[in-house]
Amino acid sequence: MASTDRRNFLKSIAVTAAAGVVSGCSSSNNAEKNSPAIPSQGKSVMGLTIPKMDVVRIGFIGVGERGSGHVKHYCHIDGVEIKAICDTNEIALDKSVEYVVSKNFPRPARYTGTEHSYREMLNRQDIDIIIISTPWAWHTPMCVETMESGKHAFVEVPAATTIEECWQLVNTAERTQKNCMMMENVCYGRDELMVLNMVRQGLFGDLLHGEAAYIHELRWQMKEIDSKTGSWRTYWHTKTNGNLYPTHGLGPVSQYMNINRGDRFDYLTSTSSPAIGRQAYAKREFAAEHERNQLKYIAGDMNTTLIKTKLGRSIMVQHDTTTPRPYSRHNYIQGINGVFAGFPNRIALENIPPAIATQYESEYQLKITEWRAAGSKGRQPKLQNFHRWDEDIAKWQAQFDHPMWLNMGQEAERNGGHGGMDFLMLWRMVYCLRNGEALDQDVYDAAAWSAIAPLSADSVTDRSNSKDIPDFTRGVWQSAKPLGIIA
Ligand SMILES: NC(=O)c1ccc[n+]([C@@H]2O[C@H](COP(=O)([O-])OP(=O)(O)OC[C@H]3O[C@@H](n4cnc5c(N)ncnc54)[C@H](O)[C@@H]3O)[C@@H](O)[C@H]2O)c1
Repeated sequence: MASTDRRNFLKSIAVTAAAGVVSGCSSSNNAEKNSPAIPSQGKSVMGLTIPKMDVVRIGFIGVGERGSGHVKHYCHIDGVEIKAICDTNEIALDKSVEYVVSKNFPRPARYTGTEHSYREMLNRQDIDIIIISTPWAWHTPMCVETMESGKHAFVEVPAATTIEECWQLVNTAERTQKNCMMMENVCYGRDELMVLNMVRQGLFGDLLHGEAAYIHELRWQMKEIDSKTGSWRTYWHTKTNGNLYPTHGLGPVSQYMNINRGDRFDYLTSTSSPAIGRQAYAKREFAAEHERNQLKYIAGDMNTTLIKTKLGRSIMVQHDTTTPRPYSRHNYIQGINGVFAGFPNRIALENIPPAIATQYESEYQLKITEWRAAGSKGRQPKLQNFHRWDEDIAKWQAQFDHPMWLNMGQEAERNGGHGGMDFLMLWRMVYCLRNGEALDQDVYDAAAWSAIAPLSADSVTDRSNSKDIPDFTRGVWQSAKPLGIIA
């Protein structure tokens, strides 16, 4: 390992240890470890509402690849003030500070110098929320300190890397009565919002099964050595063999299934393929003596995890950031009336809603006429919609686009960020805060969705034996209301 990388790696371990947490590679197999260390020291924050904010005053920690995008978006959203920005990397920090100034807003205060400079920013009394976009090992410590400082925490995915960290988030949010939202932007994608709307309208019937994934070839990040994502993310492939990044696909499927609001994750089992692709890539792309060729990559290239929910449904979650292949989050949901599948979007239903059924009916009439004109030879066309995929998604969008997308989608697409989902999420967070409404994602979602990473690793190292998924809501999931369809 080159000395800077070794230093960074050791630093990241030290950070984790300093925060009193176990690094992601450790196993937490026993049930005791997966249960809350302490009973709630406050009350549930399910559906937490707080007094309306006139203006949302924001501080940022981490403005690298991701955080700088959040800063830019907030320069185009009404009702916010960017008060301060913190980053250990002064080049990244100044880029974001200057961007804000270039848009004619007051110059945000700068915090830098040490890895704990963010603490000075947290001491300020004129900030309401902190947006955290740092490497994974920092997420929970920074969220906890943010809430302790009287501010609301908004953190990038995943919110936590161990079960202990998940409980730290829940315990702190309940004690301080602060929001801790993991910013799962994919829940604000046009397709995902449409499917949520369709599920709520009962199009699929009772739900049975979902599939989620983060399949995204990211080997190229291994070439980011001194800064940027690959400079720290690469090492997770040497520490943990499991699903390193479960939440992008899983968040939306969890919302379809009312996870933590009527159902919850019960247990999982996980298995990994061999870990070969990164070693092969390093051999091909780096000199033999390069640090990337000295690392031992242990995260299986493809990890497959199966979650069972309390209502008996199943969810498959896959992770592969190594294999050269097209991107997918699966985005698959199956009920007793049929399925929606993503990447590419396809629908197959038995009972088609009336507005759309007429199109199926006329296609069918056309086929029957053609069949008769051809002498009624061969098999007679049948009106069995569910035997083929309908890939003409535009007509489904015309009927079922989510109201929030109808209201804000054009602006979201104009502003961009993964097709508009980033902008819509950031806009929605501020909307909720300014209108005194509960956020769409809470600390229980952050904990449950993030917990899949360490528990999948536990299962992989234990011959795929099942691992219980803690009830982070402490039973409240049974009475909590499902997420509504809001405009
Ligand atoms: N939701 C999404 O679509 C999406 C996309 C990309 C990244 N992410 C997530 O965003 C997070 C950041 O990823 P990235 O790609 O921007 O990484 P990055 O390395 O580009 O940025 C991280 C930034 O944090 C700074 N930093 C590190 N430690 C710090 C500390 N102690 N105090 C202050 N600043 C510190 C770094 O200097 C860097 O500028 C990760 O959790 C990643 O998983 C999410």
